[in-house]
Amino acid sequence: MTLPARIFSSDNTAGASPEIVEAVSRAAAGQAQPYGADDLTAGVRHRLGEVFEREVDVLLVSSGTAANALSLAALTPPWGSVLCHRDSHINNDECGAPEFYTAGAKLVPLGGEDAKIDPGELRAAVRHKAGDVHSVEPSVVSLTQATETGAVYTPDEIGTLGSLAEEAGLRLHMDGARFAGAVAALGRTPAELTWRAGVDLLSFGATKNGTMTADAIVVFDRSLTPELSFRAKRAGQLAAKTRFHAAQVDAYLTDGLWLRNAAHANGMAARLQDGLKALPEVGLLGVADANIVFCRLPRQVTEGLLGEGYVFYHDRWEPGVARFVTSFATTEADVDGLLAAVRRYAG
Ligand SMILES: Cc1ncc(COP(=O)(O)O)c(C=O)c1O
Repeated sequence: MTLPARIFSSDNTAGASPEIVEAVSRAAAGQAQPYGADDLTAGVRHRLGEVFEREVDVLLVSSGTAANALSLAALTPPWGSVLCHRDSHINNDECGAPEFYTAGAKLVPLGGEDAKIDPGELRAAVRHKAGDVHSVEPSVVSLTQATETGAVYTPDEIGTLGSLAEEAGLRLHMDGARFAGAVAALGRTPAELTWRAGVDLLSFGATKNGTMTADAIVVFDRSLTPELSFRAKRAGQLAAKTRFHAAQVDAYLTDGLWLRNAAHANGMAARLQDGLKALPEVGLLGVADANIVFCRLPRQVTEGLLGEGYVFYHDRWEPGVARFVTSFATTEADVDGLLAAVRRYAG
């Protein structure tokens, strides 16, 4: 009998979808052109063109941090600024990679509920000291979809931020580490959630949702592709055996696997959220549209869970606040096991 999983710290703790592992194994046979000149890589570009209902360029990379930092570097000069949410991954969790790859652009953190950028704050920030050589030049807005707290931006919300950026001459980047989760939660098309709302470059996450080592940059403004290609090579992000990245993303996009996986992860978070809602001792924080649940836990619950071997972030954002993340591999038994443990210590 397999015991319920006890690691809820991140969706990165899941393995990979069997379809993806099999695709990598198939791709290992025979010869293929290196550095992305292979047929599988061309196929991924075609598939992503279908997903986004237009021609796109694609750069396959090995991490979300690489996708974000390279994208931002292509969208801002070194003297520019990146307007982002203060809770964003680029601002808190990338070890200065955006600053490094942009050769020194400044990240300007903004507020907003549920880790979504507040349009009022953005309206002021896009023109703040623009043209003043003593300050950095507002250059790009970066938003995260789904957000770091598991909320999602609607197409209208993205369009509002996109218009504010465009009117002031800024570009728009989307950190889509959990883009699939947002598409699955909203039931809106990938096109509506990106380029139709003004997004120039998308970090298309896949490793949190089924692939092994492959994420992608999806390029809507294709004039950026040559620069991005040089930057990716210079950053060591042009793999000689890109075919293995391509095999993963190809399988990820085949027969809707990416959306099935994301819908499952979201469903498990919803199950967890519903279970926690029934416990008066636990205070849910925000709404988990996607696969991240934040809540306030009594101290004895946190300690009890830790004592049973549960792994999750706690007391990191605020004392008493915990975060649980589900994935495509989380089972109902895993969630029910966690809920039973919470009940044991809450009671
Ligand atoms: C919102 C968001 N963006 C980007 C990343 C970066 O991904 P990686 O750890 O693969 O560099 C993460 C990873 O946790 C994330 O949560």
